[in-house]
Amino acid sequence: MNVKDLLSLKDKIVLVTGGAGRYGRPIVEALAEADATIITASRNRAAGEELAAEFRGRGLQVHALQVDQGQHDSVVQLLEDIRGRFGRLDVLVNNAVARPMKSYDSPLSDWEESMRINATGLFDLTRETAELIAASGGGTIINIASMMGLFGPDLSNYEGTDMGIPMPDYFFHKGGMIALTRYLARVLAEKKIRVNCISPGGLYAGQAERFVQNYSRKVPVGRMAEHDDIKGLVVFLASPASAYITGENILIDGGMHA
Ligand SMILES: NC(=O)c1ccc[n+]([C@@H]2O[C@H](COP(=O)([O-])OP(=O)(O)OC[C@H]3O[C@@H](n4cnc5c(N)ncnc54)[C@H](O)[C@@H]3O)[C@@H](O)[C@H]2O)c1
Repeated sequence: MNVKDLLSLKDKIVLVTGGAGRYGRPIVEALAEADATIITASRNRAAGEELAAEFRGRGLQVHALQVDQGQHDSVVQLLEDIRGRFGRLDVLVNNAVARPMKSYDSPLSDWEESMRINATGLFDLTRETAELIAASGGGTIINIASMMGLFGPDLSNYEGTDMGIPMPDYFFHKGGMIALTRYLARVLAEKKIRVNCISPGGLYAGQAERFVQNYSRKVPVGRMAEHDDIKGLVVFLASPASAYITGENILIDGGMHA
């Protein structure tokens, strides 16, 4: 097969959770530029509609639906909406994340809220969605984890800033997401679903200059991640070009952990 055909997502229907967020935007853009039809779904429908309208203005096929992945009824409704409007689903990108913890000392109720959405909700949405992908003849699931699911925080990055330190729940559920990827790769294989994970490093989003300096000098590539850095990999993992890859976790960190 020609490599351009292997990387094409023509005729594929893709669900991206949290598509209007920071990493969501380049993920949606990449998959749509590769000719897929994208459904972005998050709690904030207005932000999704705005993103979808902007991309449709460029001739890309992007639509917005709503879901609260922490609510089972909302997940079931999303799947019904997708079946009704699109009839099938080929790819799920688990990109949404909730960040209820504000510090290491946050109350346990914030940790519980995080797990309700980022662990229980993630699994619920994935299991329900996998049924629709299986009924559509198989496909792929891509989990967006983080380098923080693999490594502890480098606290020296935060020196000289008022950013505080990263939240503990994030390390727990991102590590869980990487482990769940391997589990699902085996369990969903008989349904012809491949499951892979991307673990990005920090995306530049106007962080404090001191933080950017602290961070960038530890990265062989010499900078924080930019929007284009995730685009090729997400298209590759969604496409037949990665047909022999499942259960894998790929780090995009500019060499920070080389
Ligand atoms: N930003 C980074 O530097 C960075 C680095 C590594 C990994 N990541 C990963 O990338 C992914 C996206 O992160 P981001 O920084 O773009 O996040 P963001 O906060 O910018 O966006 C998160 C999205 O998730 C949605 N969301 C939150 N709770 C939800 C719920 N209950 N149901 C449905 N949608 C919900 C939000 O509406 C939003 O659209 C996450 O999985 C994150 O762990 C981000």
